[in-house]
Parts: sequence; C-alpha cells; structure tokens
Amino acid sequence: MSTSTRIALVTGGAKGLGLEWCRQLGRQGYQVILTARSQAQAEEAADQLNEEGLKVVPHSVDVVDETQIAALAAWVAQTFGRLDLLVNNAGVNSATRAQGDPLLRAKNLTLEALDPEEVLFMLRVNAIAPILMAKHFRSLLTKGDAPVILHIGSWLGSIAVKKDGGNYSYAVSKSALNMLNRALAFDLQADGIIAVVVNPGWVQTSMGGSRAMFTPEQAVGQLINNVLQGITLADTGKFFNYDGTEHPW
Ligand SMILES: NC(=O)c1ccc[n+]([C@@H]2O[C@H](COP(=O)([O-])OP(=O)(O)OC[C@H]3O[C@@H](n4cnc5c(N)ncnc54)[C@H](OP(=O)(O)O)[C@@H]3O)[C@@H](O)[C@H]2O)c1
Repeated sequence: MSTSTRIALVTGGAKGLGLEWCRQLGRQGYQVILTARSQAQAEEAADQLNEEGLKVVPHSVDVVDETQIAALAAWVAQTFGRLDLLVNNAGVNSATRAQGDPLLRAKNLTLEALDPEEVLFMLRVNAIAPILMAKHFRSLLTKGDAPVILHIGSWLGSIAVKKDGGNYSYAVSKSALNMLNRALAFDLQADGIIAVVVNPGWVQTSMGGSRAMFTPEQAVGQLINNVLQGITLADTGKFFNYDGTEHPW
C-alpha cells in the first residue's frame, strides 16, 4: 500500500450520515471531497470540518444529473488525479422526499396512493445514481490505492427481512441497489475495485428520526471498523450489516 494521502468522495455530505462519513474519514487521514446538491451547503459543511483540523474540499453535485456527475469527475481528475474511496451516501425516503406533505408521502408509501413517477424518482436517486457515479469514477478509482465503492443501502432493501406491506418505493430502490451493485462488482473486479453495499442500521438523522437506534457517529464508526477496514476484493458484490456480518438478501 502506498503512503500517499488517501482520497475519499462522499455524496450527500452536508448533513446526517454523509457529514459524519466526511468527519470520520477526515480523522482517519483521508483528503475528503465533500459533495452536496447545494454548493453553499457543501462549503459551509467543509468549513466546519476544516475548522476541526481535517482536510476537506467542497463541491456540488446532484446525483441524478449525469452531466453534473461527469463535471465532478473531471474536476477530481484535474485536482487529484485519482480516487481511493467513493461513498455513495445520498438518498431519500418517503419522509424526506415528502418534506411534510402527507399526500406526497403516501404516493411512495401506500398501495392506494402509489404513484409510478414517485417510484421512478426514488429509483433514480437511491439505485441508479450510485451506479452512474461508479460509471464516471471508474477510471479514477482504477488509479487509486486499494479502491473501494461503498453504497449506503438499507435493511429495508432486503427481500428476506421484509415482513410487512407498504414503503414500496424506498424498499424497491434499495433492493435494486443490491442487484445493480452485484452486476457492477463483477464488472469492476478486473480493475481491482471493491464494490459493496452496507446497512448502517437505524440512525438518528432527518431520515431516521430522533428515536433511531444509533447516532451518526456510532453508525459510521461501526461501518468503518467492521466493514471498510477489513474488506478485500474477495468481498466485492456483498451486502454487509453494520456489525460486519453478511446481510441476508
Ligand atoms: N437514517 C437511517 O436510519 C438510514 C437507515 C438505512 C439507510 N440509510 C441511508 O443512509 C443514507 C444517508 O441518509 P441519512 O439518514 O443521512 O439522511 P438525510 O439526513 O436525509 O441525508 C440525505 C442526504 O442525501 C442528500 N441527497 C438527497 N438527494 C440528493 C441528490 N439528488 N443529489 C445529491 N444529494 C442528495 C441530501 O441532500 P439535501 O440536503 O440536498 O436534500 C442529504 O445530504 C441514505 O442513502 C439513506 O437511505 C439511512
């Protein structure tokens, strides 16, 4: 392994789990590229982490806009020339998508109100965007040191675990992410890139709510210690739980 500073890029990095990924990776010595939809929010979050003594640069990207993804990849290529870790963290669920609008929430949640456009919206953000990120960052990751793509999935995307109705669009988007990553992992294996999906557990963020089981600090710490630090190319394509065990599909 080379001794140069490792470079990580995190999507949805201005708050919640994404901000905590940036903080903990920064503390591990990574040069972090903190991305958010809003350049102003990315800058504000990066400033906060730089004040904590970490090495963080901000950049905007909306992960459903492939033109913006391509522009970000070109900027990373010009600025750093490679990438070692991509954390595909950005995501939405029925509550964060609805932002308090009960009808919009129901369109993602209940059979009666189910709206195909909403299902497609959530598939775009939670399942397709991470694969588009991989498409555009593949060549930079190939130049990286022991490169890893970490997709933040969910136990709610596990078909084996689902024992209730509803929550259609989020559940299917995270299940789709599992299958898309399986295909991606085989495609990237020859380049030496490890690609895995991880379940962070139920976490106290705007998505998880205040009653959730883990703080972002605990959740990210567990994923770094139990998954990121131990995975090898033999693990590519797997779906991991926060405790480091394989999650049922
Ligand atoms: N919290 C939990 O209990 C839990 C459990 C399992 C999995 N997860 C997963 O963990 C990840 C992080 O969620 P969180 O709990 O930290 O939720 P959060 O606080 O709502 O954060 C979600 C992040 O994703 C960003 N985002 C949404 N759409 C985006 C887009 N089109 N382009 C770029 N960024 C976008 C948001 O940015 P804006 O501020 O611009 O909207 C925000 O930074 C998600 O993938 C989620 O599905 C969370």
